[in-house]
Amino acid sequence: MSTHAKKDQGPEEEALYEPRIVAFCCNWCSYAGADLAGTTRIQYPPNVRIVRVMCSGRVDPAFVLKAFELGADGVLVAGCHPADCHYINGNEKAAMRGDFLSSFLEDAGIESQRFRIEWIAGSEGQKFAKVVKDMVSELQRLGPIYAEEG
Ligand code: FES
Repeated sequence: MSTHAKKDQGPEEEALYEPRIVAFCCNWCSYAGADLAGTTRIQYPPNVRIVRVMCSGRVDPAFVLKAFELGADGVLVAGCHPADCHYINGNEKAAMRGDFLSSFLEDAGIESQRFRIEWIAGSEGQKFAKVVKDMVSELQRLGPIYAEEG
């Protein structure tokens, strides 16, 4: 992973900062929730790029680290609620990896608030929108993950 530093921002720069979020969404619940948010025209910030995966348990920690390396300011892993995983316990595995990732990121100098795991059902378009809004607010407070070059 390349070196990074937080940008020293004033209030005006902070207002202009639009964080980039990569969201790994499980096909069966969270992706459907994101889709519902779109089809029912629930407003949420356009800062998120969704990567559809079959299950949150499919998200290797390396995917999250790669997203940060490639410039994401925040990463979301979203899956089915506990006991609703279509692959029995993929979301439990994702949660365990999430605990590991949070402490790993802190050790690497990346605020753990930049990484979130959420359970979002296919009927929860509102929740998907709220999670994205909350992440954008939090990331705007933290500032960009990498300093501008040059
Ligand atoms: Fe959704 Fe496993 S299928 S978390």
